[in-house]
Amino acid sequence: MTYRSLISIADLGNAEMEKLFSLADHFLPQIESGGFKSTVLKGTSTILLFFEPSTRTRVSFELAGKMLGSDTINISTKGSSSEKGESLRDTALTMAAMDNNIVVMRHGGADAVEMFASCFDRSVINAGAGRGQHPTQALLDAHSLHREGLLETGRQVAIVGDIKHSRVMRSNIMLLLKLGMDVTLVAPPPLMPDGWEGLKPQNWAADTKGYGKLEWSSAIDPVLPKLDVVMLLRMQNERMVGGLMTNDDEYAKIWGLSKRRLDALPEHAIVLHPGPVNRGVELGQDVFDDPRCRINTQVNSGLAVRCALLCWACGKYPEGVAV
Ligand code: NCD
Repeated sequence: MTYRSLISIADLGNAEMEKLFSLADHFLPQIESGGFKSTVLKGTSTILLFFEPSTRTRVSFELAGKMLGSDTINISTKGSSSEKGESLRDTALTMAAMDNNIVVMRHGGADAVEMFASCFDRSVINAGAGRGQHPTQALLDAHSLHREGLLETGRQVAIVGDIKHSRVMRSNIMLLLKLGMDVTLVAPPPLMPDGWEGLKPQNWAADTKGYGKLEWSSAIDPVLPKLDVVMLLRMQNERMVGGLMTNDDEYAKIWGLSKRRLDALPEHAIVLHPGPVNRGVELGQDVFDDPRCRINTQVNSGLAVRCALLCWACGKYPEGVAV
């Protein structure tokens, strides 16, 4: 069996991404019509090793594994040997000794998943690592754009909110800029990472030819009229040291996507949010009711992309699907 891991979105070439999207497109209609049962991954086991809370990511990987016929096993911090002080390295060696095939892992440390993967000789998929990477979220967001015909050079994206603590932003900008899309980060100064200019492609890409531009705006209103995509982020209070913003009402007023701001957004633009959403803070009910809202589309793209990733991780594909 082949084993592939996905630790950082930077490791995934465009050709591999296209392969994943065509597989995701294969699964999508079956997911939209209520799910499917297949035996593609029969005989494999998928361990969901979550050291941080999760609803969407964990459930979609579990559902994907079950639909594909993999045995899925949930392990969280509570009740696992990590509570007794077992190191990540020893957890990895234990998983490998039990012949498990795929580990889908979420952890509070930015380097933890990479460290785990260095001790586990099968597939490891990063389901969110501290303030580091969240590559499967970036893939599902990009897949949501691909479904709209918006995943193309020159498109304008804004990522709004708690940029400083966001792994979703980090993975998304690497993917979108590489595809030639321009990204504006929209956040008040306390929610921007120190030295944010280090996120520009010239600081991490070997050759920036064809890459889009990265900018920062501390105000949302001037940015809205030029956008194709607005991606909202949650205030990640659990990662903040001290209170960075005075209160939620103030945030909603200055940076939240209100009815008035929706009116400033072009008709063809779409609104994304990785969830969980804090209603009334980064967005209001008006956004959910707006036809440009794609938050539910993201959820089923998430399931399709995770089905594709589990197949890709162990090199087993549905019959008749060209990869
Ligand atoms: C994100 C995460 O955990 O990084 N959510 C997700 O995976 N759907 C974003 C967040 O927690 O705000």
